[in-house]
Amino acid sequence: MKADVLLGLQWGDEGKGKVVDVLTPGYDIIARFQGGPNAGHTLEFNHIKQVLHTIPSGVFRKNKINVIGNGVVIDPIVFRKEIESLAAKGFDISGQLMISRKAHLILPTHRLLDMASEQARGETRIGSTLKGIGPTYRDKIGREGLRVGDILTDFEEKYTTRTESHKQLLREYYHFDFEEAFEACEREWFEGITLLKTFTLADTEHFLNEMLAEGRSVLAEGAQGTLLDIDFGSYPFVTSSSTICAGACIGLGIAPSKIGRVLGIFKAYCTRVGSGPFPTELRDETGEALRKAGNEFGSTTGRPRRCGWLDLVALKYAIMLNGVTEMIMMKADVLDQFEILRVCVGYEINGEVTEAFPFELDDRVKPVYVELPGWNTSLTGIRNAADFPEELRRYIRFIEEETGVPVTIASVGPNRDQTIRITA
Ligand code: GDP
Ligand code: IMO
Ligand code: MG
Repeated sequence: MKADVLLGLQWGDEGKGKVVDVLTPGYDIIARFQGGPNAGHTLEFNHIKQVLHTIPSGVFRKNKINVIGNGVVIDPIVFRKEIESLAAKGFDISGQLMISRKAHLILPTHRLLDMASEQARGETRIGSTLKGIGPTYRDKIGREGLRVGDILTDFEEKYTTRTESHKQLLREYYHFDFEEAFEACEREWFEGITLLKTFTLADTEHFLNEMLAEGRSVLAEGAQGTLLDIDFGSYPFVTSSSTICAGACIGLGIAPSKIGRVLGIFKAYCTRVGSGPFPTELRDETGEALRKAGNEFGSTTGRPRRCGWLDLVALKYAIMLNGVTEMIMMKADVLDQFEILRVCVGYEINGEVTEAFPFELDDRVKPVYVELPGWNTSLTGIRNAADFPEELRRYIRFIEEETGVPVTIASVGPNRDQTIRITA
């Protein structure tokens, strides 16, 4: 068996959580491979709405194993809150969750360093989620991180050493006032560690490879999106992990030859939260209309998301980087009210039009649009692709022709049953 990978092709929040939940019945194991609580994956079904940050989106289906892979960074505080929030809704997932001993831990001081660093950057801040992601991955790559497996051994000393050096940095370099926030946070953090210890902590790379060898199916769940990738995103306005398909190999310990289908998710338009370039951004009433119709506010931070038209230059770049075999188009219903839809098919840079994704997306990049007719009707009640209006079919066909990749699912609302499979 090979592992399939599902990941975002834009700047995150494409609807990955919802689709993973819908596809989970077809898999034995769901595995998160990178990112941490900067992610917010929203699931809606049976009048339940749940935002998951660390826990994979397969937990609401019976008899499925959910794995938090080695590439993920875990904040015990957020983890505990998530477990409690699930328990409050009647879900005990302890028997279904397996956590890699090699996953790195977000320390209370990592969060403070994230805040201090953003504050110091001022106008040039990344707009991070302030969850400590950058500082944690920095320590991982700098070979100074603390891993989940450490909490079972000589962890206190390692913890103190790390924390003390972070405090020194906060005090002496950033001049950041942290003592009060730190104390409260540290207490909660250790409570989270106690809870974490009650879960199955394992070398999940062995487990996943054994499962594949036995013919069990695995779906790897991405977080963030391709355009936030540490190498290929709009650096430095990116996250600190490899969000692309190759990240699934590293973040789970699965060989490239064991990757099967690559399911790429995109919104029928674009959004971005945080700073950084966004060529098709609409800073006008059309952008406002998209935000309102799509309820585009961050699942993790509540910040308004920036909105704009679909960008095929960026989408094609994402397809190339990931080797996408099929696509899933989300939030088609958000475009219900538009007479005319615009799609970016090229970038004009210094008077020349290119379809190549440039080294730097800066203010000189002007989108070149084509216009397509809108469907101007509500899609939210549709449950069958045969009932799609002709304009929606045309919109999808246009994307397929431009990218050469089939769109196999279109989503018309946040609920499970608003996920429509398209057969060729
Ligand atoms: P993720 O981070 O990729 O899992 O996506 P988020 O959960 O952060 O953001 C997607 C948002 O869109 C959530 O609020 C979902 O409930 C919502 N959503 C997902 N699919 C659709 C859809 O087809 N239509 C609409 N209107 N909302 C959707
Ligand atoms: P999901 O998995 C959208 C953005 C932040 C910021 C940049 C760096 O829900 O799609 P970080 O906290 O990672 O250092 O922030 O990345 N960002 C996201 N945007 N969806 C996400 O996750 C994101 N995770 C991080 O807004 O611009
Ligand atoms: Mg999200």
